[in-house]
Amino acid sequence: MEKVRNPKSAVRNNVTAIIMAAGKGTRMKSERSKVLHDVAGKPMLGYVIDACQKAGVKDIVLISGANYPEIREFTRITYPNGGIKIVIQKKQLGTAHAISTALKAKIKYEEIILILSGDVPLIEPDTIRNAINEFTIEKPGGIILTSKVDNPFGYGRIVRDAHGFIESIVEQKDATPEQQEIDHINGGVYIFNREYLKKYISRIKMNPLKKEYYLTDIAGIMAENGIKIRPLTVAYAEVAGINDRVQLMEAGKMKNKKTLERFAKNGITIVDFDTVFIDENVSIGADTVIQPFTVIRGSSRIGKGCNIGPFAHIRPGTVIGDNCRVGNYVEIKKSTLGNNTFVSHLSYIGDAELGSNVNIGAGTITCNYDGFKKHKTIIGDNVFVGSDTKFVAPVKVGRGAIIAAGSVITGDVPADALSVARARQVNKEKWALKRRKKK
Ligand code: UD1
Ligand code: CA
Repeated sequence: MEKVRNPKSAVRNNVTAIIMAAGKGTRMKSERSKVLHDVAGKPMLGYVIDACQKAGVKDIVLISGANYPEIREFTRITYPNGGIKIVIQKKQLGTAHAISTALKAKIKYEEIILILSGDVPLIEPDTIRNAINEFTIEKPGGIILTSKVDNPFGYGRIVRDAHGFIESIVEQKDATPEQQEIDHINGGVYIFNREYLKKYISRIKMNPLKKEYYLTDIAGIMAENGIKIRPLTVAYAEVAGINDRVQLMEAGKMKNKKTLERFAKNGITIVDFDTVFIDENVSIGADTVIQPFTVIRGSSRIGKGCNIGPFAHIRPGTVIGDNCRVGNYVEIKKSTLGNNTFVSHLSYIGDAELGSNVNIGAGTITCNYDGFKKHKTIIGDNVFVGSDTKFVAPVKVGRGAIIAAGSVITGDVPADALSVARARQVNKEKWALKRRKKK
């Protein structure tokens, strides 16, 4: 059979992505660089880089500023295979100045330049791929991603000519009351032909109000020179920009909703979209039910037919088998649960390996941390753990063993044994009665 190449995996060798991330992010009021704040469990900048890479754009240039050390550290850890170039824009004199700085750096740029904003994180790889396709086929001077929104406040407004091409972009501060009514906004993602970009960016003048060079001014300049820039309208959720922590929260909710919808369409019941938060790389099997107030983080994996929550907290590194139950007020961290294993109430399971058909009684805790190091708790198949048990790790429980309720297990338990590790009960006959009579 002939091998069909998956167009989705095609690498775009003729595109360089430039991601603008040098801004101070003043409105975040944060010590941390704005683009490194998390949205639904992942730094904004990570989404933008991932979207480029998933769209097949491997040639990536990041524009950093005072946040260079943080950005370099983030890319070093998150993208260890390298390939991401970082330039420094010493003074943040606006988005056009940022792009000019990048273009002047000793970097080879491909013929198509894709410009993205580090604070517009929810852009989909498919959208980037489509935009590049359309650019390649139509060969306009540029394509700008735009959206129609209910509340355009703060965004650049798209002014179009009679043919629907972009005539200019007007920023919030410069917009006349009439222009402020325009609900068609600039999404902050652009595709340009490299030569046009180089030529016309140099003609951008400083904005007298903000004393910045606006990349958006290139639209008007290109239009005046007869070069066509086409708007490509996408859903607002993809181009929602984050300037402050209200928008950060809103973007997190939008991202979470998308992730939950994907799960729901794949046969997973999520009882309440408003109180369940699941990171995008989590995987969940069909017919699993996620109850309200549940948080699932990292790249955790959950099998088929499980019941998770309400009020469950599943932290990174967790792998849960099929037909398991993780109930209310249960926290699981970096642990494995075999099939048909139940942790139904009020427990902390950390750095543990639980086999299949294990029943963990209410209030069980793995004491995994000795103040210096984390230690493992290993529990074999078919083990029954009575309520209120503490496992002082490192500790191993052999398969089929039973742990008596209230035990503090500090040593290994052999297979099929009963382990009781608590003080014996003492009953003093009539003691209470005598005490009352003394009074
Ligand atoms: C910008 C657009 C606006 C658009 C919106 C989309 C301009 C002038 N305006 O506005 O039309 O609707 O994005 O979200 O471009 N940056 C630098 N260096 C600088 C300045 C900014 O790298 O000197 C980076 C920022 O870190 C940020 C991005 O560029 O990631 C956008 O800058 P920001 O100041 O947030 O622009 P907006 O006011 O949101
Ligand atoms: Ca912004």
